[in-house]
Amino acid sequence: MNRPYIICHMVTSLDGKVTGKFLSSPECANACEIYYDINRKLESDGFICGRVTMEGSFTGGYYPDLSEYETVNDCVDFIPDCKTGFYAVAFDPKGKLGWKSEKIIDPDGDPGYDGAQIVEVLTEQADARYLGYLKSMGIPYIFAGKDEIDVNLALYKLKGSFGCDTLLLEGGSIVNGFFQRADAIDELSLVVAPLIAEKDDKPLFTDSKFSGCEVISFETKNGTVIMKYRRKS
Ligand SMILES: NC(=O)c1ccc[n+]([C@@H]2O[C@H](COP(=O)([O-])OP(=O)(O)OC[C@H]3O[C@@H](n4cnc5c(N)ncnc54)[C@H](OP(=O)(O)O)[C@@H]3O)[C@@H](O)[C@H]2O)c1
Repeated sequence: MNRPYIICHMVTSLDGKVTGKFLSSPECANACEIYYDINRKLESDGFICGRVTMEGSFTGGYYPDLSEYETVNDCVDFIPDCKTGFYAVAFDPKGKLGWKSEKIIDPDGDPGYDGAQIVEVLTEQADARYLGYLKSMGIPYIFAGKDEIDVNLALYKLKGSFGCDTLLLEGGSIVNGFFQRADAIDELSLVVAPLIAEKDDKPLFTDSKFSGCEVISFETKNGTVIMKYRRKS
């Protein structure tokens, strides 16, 4: 395969939602614990998240003063020598994420993410000074599209330039939808919490298209259902 194997790993509600209050309720605690446990055991080369999830989980809305950075006018991938390890791949088309380090620093946060090497996936909409900022931080970036991220092009580069063979796709709903529509999800790993979410909470895939999967495994643990599916070939 000329792209990494993609496992979409998510906590969902009974009604297939992935955002909202249900995630932080006490009844969801077991599901979250199981989710992080599976995350660590999957032994991937890293994880992919959309810009909104990265901001909520890691950058907290920080943004640098771009006037302090060099303007980089060419849309050429920047891949410093960091080709080993575990990657935190941010789908950030316009370059909105402000990082304070080239690696995820989250020792007290959700287990399994601390120390991951950040990789920014951008489009040509990113500010030229944002590229200078990433370069100054030693954060690799790749371009994959003009306005929208071309999922398959991004994955092709993640395999070719970073050697990623398996990556976890860990939300949220919008980025999952882009992957599903690009037919780029090989496996689904769902931890289903025994809760119903709210009307406006988002589904597993925003704007999905019709496709089929087959069940690989099904188990229950601490009041939680763990379901694995793979794409029907
Ligand atoms: N249940 C779970 O397991 C789980 C896991 C992770 C996250 N979450 C939840 O998910 C929520 C966030 O999800 P979300 O759906 O709102 O956002 P998201 O998927 O995290 O991020 C969406 C953003 O990513 C960028 N993006 C991703 N793919 C793109 C593509 N192919 N082309 C262009 N842009 C692309 C866009 O950024 P711009 O807006 O900058 O254009 C887009 O608006 C949070 O509430 C979080 O708690 C749940």
